[in-house]
Amino acid sequence: GGGAVRLTLEEENSLHGDLIQQDFMDTYNNLTLKTLMGMEWVSKHCPNASYVVKADSDVFLNLNYLVAQRLSVINMEDCFVGICMHALGIGLTDSPWGMFNMYRLEYNACRFSRLVMVHHYQPDELLNI
Ligand SMILES: *[C@@H]1O[C@H](CO)[C@@H](O)[C@H](O)[C@H]1NC(C)=O
Ligand SMILES: *[C@@H]1O[C@H](CO)[C@@H](O)[C@H](O)[C@H]1NC(C)=O
Repeated sequence: GGGAVRLTLEEENSLHGDLIQQDFMDTYNNLTLKTLMGMEWVSKHCPNASYVVKADSDVFLNLNYLVAQRLSVINMEDCFVGICMHALGIGLTDSPWGMFNMYRLEYNACRFSRLVMVHHYQPDELLNI
């Protein structure tokens, strides 16, 4: 950039200390490098951040949507996940028939290779399965 831009950037940085620079051209085809630079900075300086948002400078960002604590927490976690899904407008779908089993089944390698979940095994049984 020209001298005027550089002075503006230096002023911004001395006022707010919020600029990060790296050694590549800021072009459309280098946006991946720019994003990686941001992720690297975040992982180094904000290791405990619970979320990070990358947005362009011309984006309206409704901050209320970034903080998902409008629901009261209840102690039945299955139900709470359902309540969260409902609040997000995610509809229920039936699981594929027979692939999620609430009851124990005798292990069979061929059968189990086509199941997603089967309940109620002891730790040593799970190791064998
Ligand atoms: C990306 O930045 C590098 C380093 O400044 C530069 O050599 C290269 O031409 C840039 N690539 C693109 C696609 O702009
Ligand atoms: C991140 O969390 C760890 C573990 O709670 C803590 O030791 C560390 O000081 C925190 N780092 C920052 C930058 O807050």
